Amino acid sequence: MTQKSLTERDRSCTWHPYTQHGLGRDPMEVASAKGSKLKLNDGREVIDAISSWWTILHGHGDPVLVETARKQFETLDHVLFAGATHEPAVRLAERLVELTPKGLDRVFYSDNGSTAVEVALKIVLQNFYQNGQPQRQVFIALNGAYHGDTFGSMSVGDPDPFFEAYKPFLFECVRIDPTADALAKAFEQLGPRAAGVIVEPRIQGAAGMRTNTPEFLQAVREQCDQHGVAFVADEVMTGFGRTGSLFACDTAGVRPDIMCLAKGLTGGIFPLSATVVSEQIFQGFFSQDRNRTFFHGHTFTAHPVGCAMALASLRLCEERNVPGRLQEIGQRIQTRIEPLQQNPGVSHLRQLGGMVAWDLVGSNPDDCGYLSQVGPALHQASLEMGVLLRPLGNVVYALPPACTTDAQADQIADAMLALADRFA
Ligand SMILES: Cc1ncc(COP(=O)(O)O)c(C=O)c1O
Repeated sequence: MTQKSLTERDRSCTWHPYTQHGLGRDPMEVASAKGSKLKLNDGREVIDAISSWWTILHGHGDPVLVETARKQFETLDHVLFAGATHEPAVRLAERLVELTPKGLDRVFYSDNGSTAVEVALKIVLQNFYQNGQPQRQVFIALNGAYHGDTFGSMSVGDPDPFFEAYKPFLFECVRIDPTADALAKAFEQLGPRAAGVIVEPRIQGAAGMRTNTPEFLQAVREQCDQHGVAFVADEVMTGFGRTGSLFACDTAGVRPDIMCLAKGLTGGIFPLSATVVSEQIFQGFFSQDRNRTFFHGHTFTAHPVGCAMALASLRLCEERNVPGRLQEIGQRIQTRIEPLQQNPGVSHLRQLGGMVAWDLVGSNPDDCGYLSQVGPALHQASLEMGVLLRPLGNVVYALPPACTTDAQADQIADAMLALADRFA
C-alpha cells in the first residue's frame, strides 16, 4: 500500500484559513523553522519574508523564548484568570503600562488580534451605556480597514471583499478616508451617536499596506477629545517595532484611549493579545454593582506561558534594538528595489520601518485588490526563488523578522525585482 503524502492527508481532513480549497492549490509542507527560514519537507529552505502572517518578531525558534516557554510550562502551565492572578500576567501588565503611551494604565488579556479589538469595542459601548450616554453606538473607521474576523471586528472592518455575506448582521459604522476633514464630516453626520474612532495607525495592513500620516492620527486625537469619544488604535500588526518605533502611535506622538496588541506581543510565537485601556475608561466600570462588570473573558485569558514569553520578547526588543534593526532591514530592501521607481508596471513603492510594499499595475486595471488573479502567481513564483511572499492581491510586500541578515534582506529584494521583471 502506498503511503499518502502530507498534502493528500491534509486535503481529506483540514479546512485552511482564507483558502478556497476548490482551486486545488497545494499548501507548502513545512517541516521546521529556524531564524528567518522555513524548512520544507522536500528539503528546500525559504526565507519567511512576511514573518508568518506578520507575527515572528525576532526569528523562529529563538532560544531565549523557547527556554522561557519551557520553564514557564514547568512552573505554572495554566490557571484561570477570573478570581486568580499570577506573576507573569501582572509583570507583563506593568511592563505594557510602562511602554505604551502615557495614560494607558489597564491591561485586559485575550488571545488573538480579533478578540483584542472585540474587547476594545465592547468596553467602549458598555462604558457609554452604563454612564449616561447609551446613544453613543456608532464607530468611525477607515475605508479598507481590517480589524479581524469576529462580528464586532468585522463590523468596523470594510466588508469589501471579505465580509459581504455577513453584512446584514454587522453593526453600523461610518467609513472614511484618513483625512482630518473626512473625520470632521463623519462626526458632524453622527452627532451624539458617535462612540469612537478605530484606526490601524500609520499603515493599514490587509487593505494593501496603505499608509496614513502622523497628522491624521493627531487629528483623530484632537477630534476624539473635542467630541468626548474613544480613540482606539489597532496596533495588532504595527506593534513591537514594525514601524521603526515600538508602537506606530509613537511615530505621531499620540496617545489613544485604547490600544490593541497581539501578533508580535510574544515575539509572534504564542497566541496572546492585550487591550490596553486608560484608567478613566476602567473607572467607568469600577463599582459595587455587579451589573457594571465587564462580562467578557476567554478560557485562556492571560495564559502564563504567553505572558512569560511576552516579557522575554520585550526584553529582547530592547536589548537587540528590534525597532532599529527592522528599520535598517526595511531601508536596505527599499534601497535595493529603488530601480522599480522607473518601472511603469510598478507604482507606490513605499517603506515604513521594516515594511516595504509596492503595487503591481498589471495590464488589466480592474484586476487589483485582494482578489486580484495575479496574487497566487506572485506567491508561487517567489517561493520558487526561495522567498516566502504572500502578496495582498497585486500588492507585493515584505515584512521580515529582525534576525534577517543583510544577505537575506538582499535576497528578498532580488526576489521582488525578479517578480517585477516577470509580471510588471
Ligand atoms: C490590524 C489588524 N487587526 C486585527 C487583526 C486580527 O488578528 P487575528 O488574526 O490575530 O485575529 C489583524 C490580522 O491580521 C490585523 O492586521
